[in-house]
Amino acid sequence: MHLNNHKEMTFHRILLLLLLLLHMPQSPAAAGSSWSLLLPSIGISAMHMQLLPTDRVVIYDRTDFGTSNISLPDGKCRPNSTDCSAHSVEYNIACNTVRPLMVLSNVWCSSGTLMPDGSLVQTGGWSDGDHVVRIYKSCDNCDWQEIPTGLSQPRWYATNHLLPDGRQIIVGGRRSFNYEFYPKMSATETDFTMMFLVQTNEPDVENNLYPFVFLNTDGNIFIYANYRGILFDYVRSKVVRTFPAIPGGDPRNYPSTGSAVLLPLHIVQGNVDCVEVLVCGGAPRDAFKNANNGKFDGALDTCGRIKISDPDPQWVMETMPLARVMGDMVLLPNGDVLIINGGSAGVAGWDLARDPVLSPVIYGPHKPTESRFEVQNPSTIARMYHSTAILLRDGRVLVGGSNAHDKYEFTNVLYPTELSLEAFSPAYLDPSLSGLRPNIISHETKTTIHHGENFIIRFIVSCPVDPNLVKVTMVAPSFNTHSFSMNQRLLILDGGNTTVALGMSHYEVSVVAPPSGNIAPAGNYILFVVHQEVPSEGIWVRIR
Ligand SMILES: *[C@@H]1O[C@H](CO)[C@@H](O)[C@H](O)[C@H]1NC(C)=O
Ligand SMILES: *[C@@H]1O[C@H](CO)[C@@H](O)[C@H](O)[C@H]1NC(C)=O
Ligand SMILES: *[C@@H]1O[C@H](CO)[C@@H](O)[C@H](O)[C@H]1NC(C)=O
Repeated sequence: MHLNNHKEMTFHRILLLLLLLLHMPQSPAAAGSSWSLLLPSIGISAMHMQLLPTDRVVIYDRTDFGTSNISLPDGKCRPNSTDCSAHSVEYNIACNTVRPLMVLSNVWCSSGTLMPDGSLVQTGGWSDGDHVVRIYKSCDNCDWQEIPTGLSQPRWYATNHLLPDGRQIIVGGRRSFNYEFYPKMSATETDFTMMFLVQTNEPDVENNLYPFVFLNTDGNIFIYANYRGILFDYVRSKVVRTFPAIPGGDPRNYPSTGSAVLLPLHIVQGNVDCVEVLVCGGAPRDAFKNANNGKFDGALDTCGRIKISDPDPQWVMETMPLARVMGDMVLLPNGDVLIINGGSAGVAGWDLARDPVLSPVIYGPHKPTESRFEVQNPSTIARMYHSTAILLRDGRVLVGGSNAHDKYEFTNVLYPTELSLEAFSPAYLDPSLSGLRPNIISHETKTTIHHGENFIIRFIVSCPVDPNLVKVTMVAPSFNTHSFSMNQRLLILDGGNTTVALGMSHYEVSVVAPPSGNIAPAGNYILFVVHQEVPSEGIWVRIR
Protein backbone atom coordinates (compact mmCIF):
# COMPACT_ATOMS: atom_id res chain seq x y z
CA MET A 1 0.00 0.00 0.00
CA HIS A 2 2.67 2.44 1.08
CA LEU A 3 4.94 1.27 -1.71
CA ASN A 4 2.16 1.53 -4.27
CA ASN A 5 1.45 5.11 -3.23
CA HIS A 6 5.09 5.99 -3.62
CA LYS A 7 5.19 4.38 -7.08
CA GLU A 8 2.12 6.33 -8.12
CA MET A 9 3.69 9.60 -6.96
CA THR A 10 6.85 8.92 -8.97
CA PHE A 11 4.74 8.05 -11.99
CA HIS A 12 2.83 11.36 -11.66
CA ARG A 13 6.05 13.29 -11.31
CA ILE A 14 7.46 11.74 -14.45
CA LEU A 15 4.21 12.47 -16.28
CA LEU A 16 4.31 16.08 -15.13
CA LEU A 17 7.93 16.43 -16.24
CA LEU A 18 7.07 14.99 -19.66
CA LEU A 19 4.15 17.37 -20.04
CA LEU A 20 6.35 20.30 -19.06
CA LEU A 21 8.98 19.27 -21.59
CA LEU A 22 6.37 18.97 -24.32
CA HIS A 23 5.07 22.46 -23.61
CA MET A 24 8.43 24.19 -23.28
CA PRO A 25 8.76 26.82 -25.98
CA GLN A 26 11.22 25.65 -28.61
CA SER A 27 14.08 28.04 -29.11
CA PRO A 28 14.33 29.40 -32.68
CA ALA A 29 17.78 27.79 -32.92
CA ALA A 30 16.05 24.40 -33.02
CA ALA A 31 14.29 25.36 -36.25
CA GLY A 32 15.78 23.94 -39.40
CA SER A 33 15.39 24.12 -43.15
CA SER A 34 13.88 21.12 -44.89
CA TRP A 35 13.21 19.60 -48.30
CA SER A 36 10.23 17.76 -49.70
CA LEU A 37 9.73 15.95 -52.96
CA LEU A 38 6.55 17.40 -54.50
CA LEU A 39 6.33 15.27 -57.63
CA PRO A 40 8.77 12.58 -58.81
CA SER A 41 8.01 13.62 -62.40
CA ILE A 42 6.32 16.55 -64.07
CA GLY A 43 7.10 14.92 -67.44
CA ILE A 44 9.57 17.62 -68.57
CA SER A 45 12.76 19.08 -67.15
CA ALA A 46 12.06 22.44 -65.46
CA MET A 47 14.55 24.54 -67.39
CA HIS A 48 12.55 27.78 -67.26
CA MET A 49 9.98 28.72 -64.56
CA GLN A 50 7.66 31.64 -63.81
CA LEU A 51 5.17 31.96 -60.94
CA LEU A 52 1.87 33.50 -62.07
CA PRO A 53 -0.66 35.50 -60.00
CA THR A 54 -3.03 32.50 -60.27
CA ASP A 55 -0.62 30.57 -58.00
CA ARG A 56 0.37 28.37 -60.89
CA VAL A 57 3.83 28.00 -62.33
CA VAL A 58 4.45 27.87 -66.05
CA ILE A 59 7.39 25.62 -66.85
CA TYR A 60 9.06 24.61 -70.14
CA ASP A 61 12.16 22.93 -71.52
CA ARG A 62 12.70 22.69 -75.32
CA THR A 63 10.98 21.29 -78.38
CA ASP A 64 14.04 19.56 -79.94
CA PHE A 65 14.72 17.43 -76.90
CA GLY A 66 13.07 14.15 -77.95
CA THR A 67 9.89 12.72 -76.49
CA SER A 68 9.14 13.94 -72.98
CA ASN A 69 7.42 11.89 -70.28
CA ILE A 70 4.09 13.73 -70.62
CA SER A 71 1.76 13.58 -73.61
CA LEU A 72 -0.03 16.48 -75.19
CA PRO A 73 -3.77 16.36 -74.35
CA ASP A 74 -6.41 14.73 -76.57
CA GLY A 75 -3.89 12.89 -78.77
CA LYS A 76 -2.57 16.18 -80.17
CA CYS A 77 0.85 16.45 -81.84
CA ARG A 78 2.90 19.54 -82.66
CA PRO A 79 2.17 20.67 -86.25
CA ASN A 80 4.72 19.31 -88.75
CA SER A 81 6.25 17.09 -86.09
CA THR A 82 6.07 13.47 -85.00
CA ASP A 83 6.53 14.58 -81.37
CA CYS A 84 3.22 14.26 -79.56
CA SER A 85 4.68 14.96 -76.11
CA ALA A 86 4.47 18.25 -74.23
CA HIS A 87 7.47 20.50 -73.59
CA SER A 88 5.65 22.93 -71.35
CA VAL A 89 3.39 22.37 -68.36
CA GLU A 90 1.43 24.44 -65.88
CA TYR A 91 2.02 23.39 -62.26
CA ASN A 92 -0.90 24.00 -59.92
CA ILE A 93 0.64 24.64 -56.49
CA ALA A 94 -2.45 24.03 -54.34
CA CYS A 95 -3.39 20.78 -56.11
CA ASN A 96 0.23 19.66 -56.72
CA THR A 97 -0.69 18.65 -60.28
CA VAL A 98 0.54 19.49 -63.78
CA ARG A 99 -1.34 20.14 -67.01
CA PRO A 100 0.47 19.77 -70.37
CA LEU A 101 0.72 22.84 -72.64
CA MET A 102 1.65 23.15 -76.32
CA VAL A 103 4.54 25.32 -77.47
CA LEU A 104 4.87 25.40 -81.25
CA SER A 105 8.40 26.71 -81.76
CA ASN A 106 11.66 26.14 -79.92
CA VAL A 107 11.80 27.88 -76.54
CA TRP A 108 15.25 26.54 -75.60
CA CYS A 109 17.40 28.98 -73.57
CA SER A 110 14.93 31.82 -73.85
CA SER A 111 13.79 34.56 -71.49
CA GLY A 112 10.65 36.32 -70.32
CA THR A 113 8.83 38.72 -68.05
CA LEU A 114 5.55 38.63 -66.19
CA MET A 115 3.64 41.60 -67.61
CA PRO A 116 1.46 43.97 -65.50
CA ASP A 117 -1.72 42.21 -66.72
CA GLY A 118 -0.48 38.93 -65.22
CA SER A 119 0.43 37.21 -68.46
CA LEU A 120 3.89 35.81 -69.09
CA VAL A 121 5.45 37.30 -72.21
CA GLN A 122 8.31 35.03 -73.20
CA THR A 123 10.78 35.90 -75.95
CA GLY A 124 13.12 34.05 -78.29
CA GLY A 125 14.72 30.65 -78.19
CA TRP A 126 16.62 28.58 -80.71
CA SER A 127 16.26 27.90 -84.42
CA ASP A 128 12.62 28.35 -85.53
CA GLY A 129 11.92 30.01 -82.17
CA ASP A 130 14.57 32.72 -82.04
CA HIS A 131 12.35 35.61 -83.25
CA VAL A 132 9.15 34.39 -81.61
CA VAL A 133 7.24 36.11 -78.81
CA ARG A 134 4.92 33.82 -76.85
CA ILE A 135 2.20 34.82 -74.46
CA TYR A 136 0.77 32.65 -71.70
CA LYS A 137 -2.23 33.87 -69.75
CA SER A 138 -3.17 31.40 -67.05
CA CYS A 139 -6.64 29.85 -66.87
CA ASP A 140 -8.01 26.32 -66.59
CA ASN A 141 -7.69 25.56 -70.30
CA CYS A 142 -5.50 28.36 -71.68
CA ASP A 143 -2.47 27.64 -73.83
CA TRP A 144 0.47 29.50 -75.39
CA GLN A 145 -0.19 32.09 -78.09
CA GLU A 146 2.70 32.71 -80.50
CA ILE A 147 3.74 35.78 -82.48
CA PRO A 148 6.25 34.39 -85.04
CA THR A 149 8.12 37.64 -85.79
CA GLY A 150 7.58 39.49 -82.54
CA LEU A 151 11.32 40.23 -82.19
CA SER A 152 13.53 42.21 -84.53
CA GLN A 153 16.69 40.21 -83.60
CA PRO A 154 17.27 36.56 -82.68
CA ARG A 155 17.30 36.19 -78.88
CA TRP A 156 19.03 33.12 -77.49
CA TYR A 157 20.42 33.53 -73.91
CA ALA A 158 19.04 37.08 -73.56
CA THR A 159 17.84 38.78 -70.36
CA ASN A 160 14.53 40.63 -69.98
CA HIS A 161 13.32 43.19 -67.48
CA LEU A 162 10.00 44.92 -66.83
CA LEU A 163 10.16 48.72 -67.24
CA PRO A 164 8.24 51.54 -65.54
CA ASP A 165 6.25 52.14 -68.77
CA GLY A 166 4.87 48.58 -68.69
CA ARG A 167 7.01 47.32 -71.57
CA GLN A 168 9.89 44.92 -71.23
CA ILE A 169 13.47 45.42 -72.37
CA ILE A 170 15.27 42.43 -73.91
CA VAL A 171 19.05 42.65 -73.61
CA GLY A 172 21.57 40.71 -75.71
CA GLY A 173 21.58 37.05 -76.57
CA ARG A 174 24.10 35.01 -78.51
CA ARG A 175 25.64 37.19 -81.27
CA SER A 176 22.99 39.86 -80.66
CA PHE A 177 24.93 42.83 -79.32
CA ASN A 178 21.85 44.99 -78.97
CA TYR A 179 18.56 45.41 -77.12
CA GLU A 180 14.92 45.90 -77.99
CA PHE A 181 11.55 46.32 -76.34
CA TYR A 182 8.31 44.42 -76.30
CA PRO A 183 5.73 45.53 -77.19
CA LYS A 184 7.10 48.06 -79.69
CA MET A 185 5.96 51.70 -79.67
CA SER A 186 5.46 51.67 -83.44
CA ALA A 187 5.70 49.39 -86.46
CA THR A 188 9.07 50.91 -87.35
CA GLU A 189 10.74 50.45 -83.97
CA THR A 190 13.49 47.83 -84.17
CA ASP A 191 16.57 47.33 -81.99
CA PHE A 192 19.46 49.39 -80.60
CA THR A 193 23.18 48.60 -80.52
CA MET A 194 24.84 47.99 -77.15
CA MET A 195 28.65 48.20 -77.39
CA PHE A 196 29.06 46.94 -73.83
CA LEU A 197 27.97 43.50 -75.05
CA VAL A 198 30.66 43.60 -77.75
CA GLN A 199 33.28 44.73 -75.23
CA THR A 200 32.49 41.97 -72.72
CA ASN A 201 32.28 39.25 -75.38
CA GLU A 202 35.28 36.97 -75.84
CA PRO A 203 35.66 35.30 -79.26
CA ASP A 204 35.91 31.68 -78.03
CA VAL A 205 33.96 31.87 -74.78
CA GLU A 206 31.26 34.49 -74.72
CA ASN A 207 31.06 34.59 -70.89
CA ASN A 208 28.56 37.44 -71.13
CA LEU A 209 25.36 35.59 -71.99
CA TYR A 210 22.27 35.96 -69.82
CA PRO A 211 23.68 39.27 -68.54
CA PHE A 212 22.51 40.30 -65.05
CA VAL A 213 20.05 43.17 -65.59
CA PHE A 214 18.34 45.25 -62.86
CA LEU A 215 16.22 48.37 -63.02
CA ASN A 216 18.00 50.95 -60.87
CA THR A 217 15.90 53.31 -58.76
CA ASP A 218 17.04 56.27 -60.92
CA GLY A 219 15.34 54.75 -63.97
CA ASN A 220 18.53 53.54 -65.66
CA ILE A 221 19.33 49.86 -65.93
CA PHE A 222 22.32 48.22 -64.30
CA ILE A 223 23.89 45.58 -66.55
CA TYR A 224 26.62 43.20 -65.44
CA ALA A 225 28.34 40.95 -67.98
CA ASN A 226 31.45 38.79 -67.65
CA TYR A 227 33.46 40.66 -64.98
CA ARG A 228 32.05 44.19 -64.88
CA GLY A 229 28.96 46.35 -64.81
CA ILE A 230 27.58 49.58 -66.23
CA LEU A 231 24.62 51.85 -65.66
CA PHE A 232 22.78 52.30 -68.93
CA ASP A 233 20.22 54.86 -70.09
CA TYR A 234 18.11 52.76 -72.46
CA VAL A 235 16.12 55.76 -73.71
CA ARG A 236 19.18 57.66 -74.98
CA SER A 237 21.16 54.47 -75.59
CA LYS A 238 24.01 55.78 -73.46
CA VAL A 239 26.35 54.42 -70.81
CA VAL A 240 25.81 56.64 -67.76
CA ARG A 241 28.42 55.08 -65.48
CA THR A 242 31.09 52.42 -65.66
CA PHE A 243 31.73 50.49 -62.46
CA PRO A 244 35.11 49.03 -61.51
CA ALA A 245 35.83 45.47 -62.67
CA ILE A 246 35.15 42.81 -60.05
CA PRO A 247 38.39 41.96 -58.17
CA GLY A 248 40.06 38.88 -59.65
CA GLY A 249 38.46 39.51 -63.03
CA ASP A 250 36.96 36.02 -63.31
CA PRO A 251 33.81 35.63 -65.42
CA ARG A 252 30.42 35.36 -63.70
CA ASN A 253 28.01 34.91 -66.63
CA TYR A 254 27.14 31.97 -68.87
CA PRO A 255 28.95 29.65 -69.48
CA SER A 256 30.98 30.55 -66.36
CA THR A 257 27.61 30.92 -64.70
CA GLY A 258 27.37 32.73 -61.38
CA SER A 259 24.27 34.60 -60.25
CA ALA A 260 23.28 38.03 -58.96
CA VAL A 261 20.57 39.86 -57.05
CA LEU A 262 19.59 43.43 -56.42
CA LEU A 263 19.63 43.47 -52.60
CA PRO A 264 16.36 44.50 -50.87
CA LEU A 265 15.39 48.11 -51.54
CA HIS A 266 14.55 49.82 -48.26
CA ILE A 267 12.14 52.70 -48.85
CA VAL A 268 12.38 55.49 -46.25
CA GLN A 269 10.25 58.60 -46.69
CA GLY A 270 9.79 58.03 -50.40
CA ASN A 271 13.45 57.36 -51.13
CA VAL A 272 15.81 54.46 -51.51
CA ASP A 273 19.18 55.74 -50.34
CA CYS A 274 21.15 52.59 -50.84
CA VAL A 275 21.05 50.37 -53.94
CA GLU A 276 23.32 47.35 -53.82
CA VAL A 277 24.04 44.45 -56.16
CA LEU A 278 25.43 41.10 -54.99
CA VAL A 279 27.14 38.77 -57.50
CA CYS A 280 28.05 35.26 -56.29
CA GLY A 281 29.93 32.28 -57.68
CA GLY A 282 30.96 31.54 -61.25
CA ALA A 283 34.03 29.87 -62.71
CA PRO A 284 37.70 30.82 -63.09
CA ARG A 285 38.79 32.43 -66.35
CA ASP A 286 40.00 29.28 -68.15
CA ALA A 287 37.36 26.94 -66.76
CA PHE A 288 35.34 26.71 -69.99
CA LYS A 289 38.36 25.74 -72.10
CA ASN A 290 39.58 23.33 -69.42
CA ALA A 291 36.19 21.67 -68.95
CA ASN A 292 36.05 21.00 -72.69
CA ASN A 293 39.38 19.18 -72.28
CA GLY A 294 38.12 17.11 -69.36
CA LYS A 295 39.62 19.22 -66.57
CA PHE A 296 37.03 20.58 -64.14
CA ASP A 297 38.31 23.66 -62.32
CA GLY A 298 36.93 24.41 -58.87
CA ALA A 299 34.09 26.97 -58.94
CA LEU A 300 34.50 30.48 -57.50
CA ASP A 301 33.72 30.80 -53.80
CA THR A 302 33.49 34.58 -53.77
CA CYS A 303 30.67 37.10 -53.81
CA GLY A 304 31.16 40.73 -54.80
CA ARG A 305 28.88 43.37 -53.28
CA ILE A 306 28.73 46.87 -54.75
CA LYS A 307 26.71 49.91 -53.76
CA ILE A 308 25.72 51.27 -57.17
CA SER A 309 24.10 54.33 -55.57
CA ASP A 310 27.46 55.39 -54.09
CA PRO A 311 29.36 58.22 -55.84
CA ASP A 312 32.57 56.19 -55.69
CA PRO A 313 31.45 52.56 -55.52
CA GLN A 314 33.92 49.76 -54.78
CA TRP A 315 33.43 46.03 -54.71
CA VAL A 316 33.51 44.40 -51.29
CA MET A 317 34.42 40.73 -51.62
CA GLU A 318 33.09 38.03 -49.31
CA THR A 319 33.79 34.30 -49.21
CA MET A 320 30.99 31.75 -49.37
CA PRO A 321 31.27 28.60 -47.25
CA LEU A 322 30.75 26.55 -50.45
CA ALA A 323 32.16 27.33 -53.92
CA ARG A 324 29.43 27.25 -56.58
CA VAL A 325 28.89 27.47 -60.32
CA MET A 326 25.31 27.58 -61.70
CA GLY A 327 23.86 28.55 -58.32
CA ASP A 328 20.51 30.34 -58.21
CA MET A 329 20.06 33.38 -55.98
CA VAL A 330 16.54 33.79 -54.62
CA LEU A 331 15.36 36.71 -52.47
CA LEU A 332 13.38 35.36 -49.51
CA PRO A 333 10.38 37.31 -48.11
CA ASN A 334 12.40 38.48 -45.07
CA GLY A 335 15.13 39.99 -47.26
CA ASP A 336 17.66 37.18 -46.93
CA VAL A 337 19.30 35.76 -50.06
CA LEU A 338 19.12 32.03 -50.74
CA ILE A 339 21.95 30.54 -52.85
CA ILE A 340 20.85 27.15 -54.14
CA ASN A 341 21.53 24.49 -56.85
CA GLY A 342 24.63 24.10 -59.01
CA GLY A 343 27.97 22.35 -58.85
CA SER A 344 31.38 22.89 -57.32
CA ALA A 345 33.51 22.37 -60.45
CA GLY A 346 33.39 23.04 -64.19
CA VAL A 347 31.02 25.31 -66.11
CA ALA A 348 27.54 25.38 -67.69
CA GLY A 349 26.99 23.29 -70.84
CA TRP A 350 26.67 19.66 -71.88
CA ASP A 351 28.44 17.50 -69.27
CA LEU A 352 30.80 20.33 -68.36
CA ALA A 353 30.26 20.41 -64.58
CA ARG A 354 30.96 18.07 -61.66
CA ASP A 355 30.25 17.63 -57.95
CA PRO A 356 26.75 18.93 -57.19
CA VAL A 357 26.45 21.31 -54.24
CA LEU A 358 23.48 19.81 -52.41
CA SER A 359 23.41 22.29 -49.52
CA PRO A 360 21.92 25.73 -50.08
CA VAL A 361 23.38 28.71 -48.23
CA ILE A 362 21.48 31.71 -46.85
CA TYR A 363 23.13 35.13 -46.91
CA GLY A 364 21.85 37.75 -44.44
CA PRO A 365 22.75 41.09 -46.06
CA HIS A 366 22.57 43.03 -42.78
CA LYS A 367 24.17 40.53 -40.43
CA PRO A 368 27.72 41.18 -39.15
CA THR A 369 30.24 40.39 -41.91
CA GLU A 370 31.60 37.28 -40.20
CA SER A 371 28.19 35.62 -39.75
CA ARG A 372 26.36 36.43 -42.98
CA PHE A 373 26.44 32.95 -44.55
CA GLU A 374 24.56 30.02 -43.08
CA VAL A 375 24.71 26.53 -44.63
CA GLN A 376 21.29 24.85 -44.94
CA ASN A 377 20.22 21.22 -44.88
CA PRO A 378 21.01 19.41 -48.15
CA SER A 379 18.76 17.94 -50.83
CA THR A 380 19.51 14.48 -52.21
CA ILE A 381 18.98 15.46 -55.87
CA ALA A 382 21.73 16.98 -58.02
CA ARG A 383 20.54 20.19 -59.69
CA MET A 384 23.18 20.92 -62.30
CA TYR A 385 22.92 22.68 -65.67
CA HIS A 386 19.36 23.71 -66.59
CA SER A 387 17.98 23.63 -63.08
CA THR A 388 15.72 26.29 -61.57
CA ALA A 389 14.47 27.80 -58.29
CA ILE A 390 11.68 30.31 -57.59
CA LEU A 391 9.98 31.72 -54.50
CA LEU A 392 6.36 30.71 -53.93
CA ARG A 393 3.71 32.78 -52.18
CA ASP A 394 3.78 30.52 -49.09
CA GLY A 395 7.51 31.20 -48.56
CA ARG A 396 8.76 27.87 -49.92
CA VAL A 397 11.20 27.75 -52.82
CA LEU A 398 10.23 25.57 -55.76
CA VAL A 399 13.22 23.69 -57.19
CA GLY A 400 13.25 21.72 -60.44
CA GLY A 401 15.11 20.74 -63.56
CA SER A 402 18.70 19.67 -64.22
CA ASN A 403 19.66 18.41 -67.59
CA ALA A 404 23.26 18.42 -68.75
CA HIS A 405 22.54 16.50 -71.96
CA ASP A 406 21.42 17.24 -75.48
CA LYS A 407 18.46 14.86 -75.09
CA TYR A 408 16.51 13.37 -72.20
CA GLU A 409 19.01 10.92 -70.65
CA PHE A 410 17.81 8.83 -67.74
CA THR A 411 20.45 6.10 -67.52
CA ASN A 412 24.20 5.57 -67.94
CA VAL A 413 25.06 9.24 -67.47
CA LEU A 414 26.69 11.03 -64.57
CA TYR A 415 23.76 13.37 -63.89
CA PRO A 416 20.52 11.94 -65.35
CA THR A 417 17.84 14.31 -66.63
CA GLU A 418 15.70 15.37 -63.66
CA LEU A 419 11.94 15.54 -64.11
CA SER A 420 11.22 15.96 -60.41
CA LEU A 421 9.95 18.98 -58.53
CA GLU A 422 11.02 19.66 -54.95
CA ALA A 423 10.34 22.36 -52.39
CA PHE A 424 12.96 23.85 -50.11
CA SER A 425 11.50 25.24 -46.88
CA PRO A 426 13.73 27.77 -45.15
CA ALA A 427 13.91 27.55 -41.34
CA TYR A 428 11.28 30.31 -41.02
CA LEU A 429 8.65 27.73 -42.03
CA ASP A 430 9.56 25.42 -39.17
CA PRO A 431 6.39 24.69 -37.10
CA SER A 432 8.26 25.71 -33.91
CA LEU A 433 8.06 29.33 -35.17
CA SER A 434 4.34 29.33 -35.90
CA GLY A 435 3.62 31.47 -32.82
CA LEU A 436 5.60 34.31 -34.40
CA ARG A 437 4.15 33.95 -37.89
CA PRO A 438 1.77 36.74 -39.01
CA ASN A 439 -1.38 35.72 -40.81
CA ILE A 440 -2.65 38.45 -43.15
CA ILE A 441 -6.43 38.96 -43.08
CA SER A 442 -6.67 39.26 -46.84
CA HIS A 443 -10.31 40.36 -47.08
CA GLU A 444 -9.49 43.38 -44.87
CA THR A 445 -6.43 44.34 -46.94
CA LYS A 446 -6.36 46.31 -50.18
CA THR A 447 -4.90 44.33 -53.06
CA THR A 448 -4.88 47.02 -55.74
CA ILE A 449 -2.66 49.95 -54.80
CA HIS A 450 -1.23 53.04 -56.44
CA HIS A 451 2.30 54.41 -56.22
CA GLY A 452 2.83 56.36 -52.99
CA GLU A 453 -0.56 55.45 -51.55
CA ASN A 454 -1.00 54.76 -47.83
CA PHE A 455 -2.68 51.48 -47.13
CA ILE A 456 -3.47 49.29 -44.16
CA ILE A 457 -2.74 45.63 -43.65
CA ARG A 458 -4.51 43.70 -40.90
CA PHE A 459 -2.99 40.52 -39.53
CA ILE A 460 -3.11 38.01 -36.70
CA VAL A 461 -0.15 36.85 -34.63
CA SER A 462 -0.62 34.61 -31.60
CA CYS A 463 2.46 35.89 -29.69
CA PRO A 464 2.80 39.57 -28.64
CA VAL A 465 4.21 41.77 -31.41
CA ASP A 466 6.99 44.33 -31.04
CA PRO A 467 6.30 46.96 -33.76
CA ASN A 468 10.03 47.48 -34.21
CA LEU A 469 10.40 43.86 -35.26
CA VAL A 470 7.77 44.05 -38.01
CA LYS A 471 8.45 44.80 -41.65
CA VAL A 472 6.27 44.70 -44.72
CA THR A 473 7.92 43.48 -47.91
CA MET A 474 6.85 43.15 -51.54
CA VAL A 475 8.49 40.69 -53.93
CA ALA A 476 8.21 40.76 -57.73
CA PRO A 477 7.78 37.21 -59.10
CA SER A 478 10.74 36.50 -61.35
CA PHE A 479 11.42 34.52 -64.51
CA ASN A 480 14.11 31.98 -63.69
CA THR A 481 16.45 30.17 -66.05
CA HIS A 482 20.20 29.50 -66.26
CA SER A 483 20.79 30.58 -62.65
CA PHE A 484 19.38 34.06 -63.10
CA SER A 485 16.03 35.43 -61.93
CA MET A 486 14.87 38.21 -64.22
CA ASN A 487 12.84 41.02 -62.55
CA GLN A 488 13.74 39.80 -59.09
CA ARG A 489 13.12 42.68 -56.70
CA LEU A 490 12.25 43.02 -53.02
CA LEU A 491 10.94 46.21 -51.46
CA ILE A 492 10.84 46.94 -47.74
CA LEU A 493 7.96 49.38 -47.36
CA ASP A 494 7.98 52.52 -45.29
CA GLY A 495 5.82 52.19 -42.14
CA GLY A 496 6.48 48.62 -40.98
CA ASN A 497 7.12 49.97 -37.47
CA THR A 498 3.61 51.50 -37.16
CA THR A 499 2.00 48.23 -36.09
CA VAL A 500 -0.74 48.71 -33.46
CA ALA A 501 -2.80 46.13 -31.61
CA LEU A 502 -6.54 46.09 -32.40
CA GLY A 503 -7.53 43.38 -29.95
CA MET A 504 -6.64 39.84 -28.99
CA SER A 505 -3.85 38.82 -31.41
CA HIS A 506 -5.19 41.31 -33.99
CA TYR A 507 -2.86 43.93 -35.43
CA GLU A 508 -2.86 46.63 -38.06
CA VAL A 509 0.08 48.19 -39.87
CA SER A 510 -0.07 51.29 -42.06
CA VAL A 511 2.44 51.36 -44.89
CA VAL A 512 3.18 53.43 -47.97
CA ALA A 513 3.14 51.79 -51.41
CA PRO A 514 6.40 52.16 -53.40
CA PRO A 515 6.58 55.80 -54.55
CA SER A 516 7.35 55.34 -58.25
CA GLY A 517 7.67 53.02 -61.21
CA ASN A 518 11.46 53.34 -61.06
CA ILE A 519 11.42 51.85 -57.57
CA ALA A 520 8.67 49.35 -58.35
CA PRO A 521 7.27 49.07 -61.90
CA ALA A 522 3.47 48.75 -61.96
CA GLY A 523 2.47 45.11 -61.93
CA ASN A 524 2.09 42.10 -59.68
CA TYR A 525 3.84 41.59 -56.36
CA ILE A 526 3.58 39.25 -53.39
CA LEU A 527 3.18 41.17 -50.15
CA PHE A 528 4.44 39.70 -46.87
CA VAL A 529 4.24 40.81 -43.25
CA VAL A 530 7.47 39.73 -41.57
CA HIS A 531 7.68 39.47 -37.78
CA GLN A 532 11.02 38.66 -36.15
CA GLU A 533 12.24 37.51 -39.58
CA VAL A 534 9.33 35.04 -39.89
CA PRO A 535 7.18 35.89 -42.92
CA SER A 536 3.45 35.45 -43.26
CA GLU A 537 2.08 33.64 -46.24
CA GLY A 538 2.10 36.33 -48.94
CA ILE A 539 -0.91 37.86 -50.68
CA TRP A 540 -0.97 39.00 -54.30
CA VAL A 541 -1.17 42.77 -54.73
CA ARG A 542 -1.10 44.77 -57.90
CA ILE A 543 0.36 48.25 -58.34
CA ARG A 544 -1.63 50.10 -60.97
C1 LIG B 1 10.60 8.78 -68.45
O1 LIG B 1 10.43 7.90 -69.57
C2 LIG B 1 11.54 7.06 -69.81
C3 LIG B 1 11.29 6.34 -71.10
O2 LIG B 1 10.01 5.80 -71.15
C4 LIG B 1 11.75 6.13 -68.62
O3 LIG B 1 12.89 5.32 -68.83
C5 LIG B 1 11.94 6.96 -67.37
O4 LIG B 1 12.02 6.15 -66.23
C6 LIG B 1 10.83 7.97 -67.18
N1 LIG B 1 11.22 8.83 -66.10
C7 LIG B 1 10.41 9.26 -65.15
C8 LIG B 1 11.01 10.07 -64.06
O5 LIG B 1 9.22 9.02 -65.16
C1 LIG C 1 3.86 23.16 -91.53
O1 LIG C 1 4.47 22.95 -92.80
C2 LIG C 1 3.80 23.59 -93.87
C3 LIG C 1 4.47 23.16 -95.19
O2 LIG C 1 5.89 23.28 -95.09
C4 LIG C 1 3.85 25.10 -93.64
O3 LIG C 1 3.16 25.76 -94.66
C5 LIG C 1 3.21 25.43 -92.30
O4 LIG C 1 3.35 26.81 -92.02
C6 LIG C 1 3.85 24.64 -91.19
N1 LIG C 1 3.13 24.88 -89.94
C7 LIG C 1 3.76 25.24 -88.83
C8 LIG C 1 2.87 25.52 -87.64
O5 LIG C 1 4.96 25.37 -88.71
C1 LIG D 1 9.34 54.42 -37.76
O1 LIG D 1 10.65 54.59 -38.28
C2 LIG D 1 10.90 55.83 -38.89
C3 LIG D 1 12.31 55.83 -39.43
O2 LIG D 1 12.52 54.74 -40.24
C4 LIG D 1 10.71 56.95 -37.87
O3 LIG D 1 10.88 58.19 -38.50
C5 LIG D 1 9.33 56.87 -37.27
O4 LIG D 1 9.19 57.80 -36.24
C6 LIG D 1 9.06 55.48 -36.70
N1 LIG D 1 7.66 55.39 -36.29
C7 LIG D 1 7.28 54.80 -35.17
C8 LIG D 1 5.81 54.76 -34.89
O5 LIG D 1 8.09 54.30 -34.39
